[in-house]
Amino acid sequence: MQGRALLIGNWKMNKTVEGSASYARALIRALEGWWDTKRVGVVLAPTALAISAVGRTLSSTEIDVAGQNLELGTEGALTGGISGYLLYEAGARWVIVGHSERRQHFAEGDTLVAEKVGAAWQAGLHPIVCIGETETEREQGATQRVVSQQLERILAKPPQGPLTIAYEPVWAIGSGRVPEPEEVGKIADRIRQALRAQWPEAENDVAVLYGGSVNHQNLGGFLDQAEVSGALIGGASLIVEEMVAMVRAAQEHRGTR
Ligand code: 13P
Repeated sequence: MQGRALLIGNWKMNKTVEGSASYARALIRALEGWWDTKRVGVVLAPTALAISAVGRTLSSTEIDVAGQNLELGTEGALTGGISGYLLYEAGARWVIVGHSERRQHFAEGDTLVAEKVGAAWQAGLHPIVCIGETETEREQGATQRVVSQQLERILAKPPQGPLTIAYEPVWAIGSGRVPEPEEVGKIADRIRQALRAQWPEAENDVAVLYGGSVNHQNLGGFLDQAEVSGALIGGASLIVEEMVAMVRAAQEHRGTR
């Protein structure tokens, strides 16, 4: 699925509310006049506290806002929880689900991740679900098995909305190490095969992204892969100039084919 490249910045637990809004203002200024929204889509995932401020700042632009996590249900006794409905009300239209940091530090398993994907659809959000192997699993040659397993529960039920799948090998996150783009291409092909088998009607509503130490220099190699539609970016997305350089790189890439 070539076509429009999608760049999603996951800011994790970074930036104040004011810092997030001023980044958004700077990004708008920097993209003005040349950004082709038909070639590159941009989504920012600030902390939950900054979603409203960033959403308001971006309201007249085509840059979308995402949550980084959601809880199940709409409201109730869940101290500290934020539902998809609350994210939507705050201005988010997307939400990251099952990031490896949540799987690792908050013990989120495949069943909960699949339920959260359903909860995101219920709330009118577009889920971005993260899958990927650890370093040990990679060394054991278990990458394909792990990725298929992580997908299984999500694809077990019929889709109720669009889905984006981010393949993020855990060992590549924040490490400066990346897999060979061709390796990512092969995994994206396998994800596409699973989608064709499980969700033949909805296959075109699912994009596959790569994530893990992406920057403006290595982005093109991943976008070269037929089934890779963009990137989920952590550290590099925190710097507005780097984000702009990635939009430029993606736009040039998509303009040449
Ligand atoms: P880095 O780009 O900092 O490696 O983070 C990737 C990531 O976890 C995005 O969700």
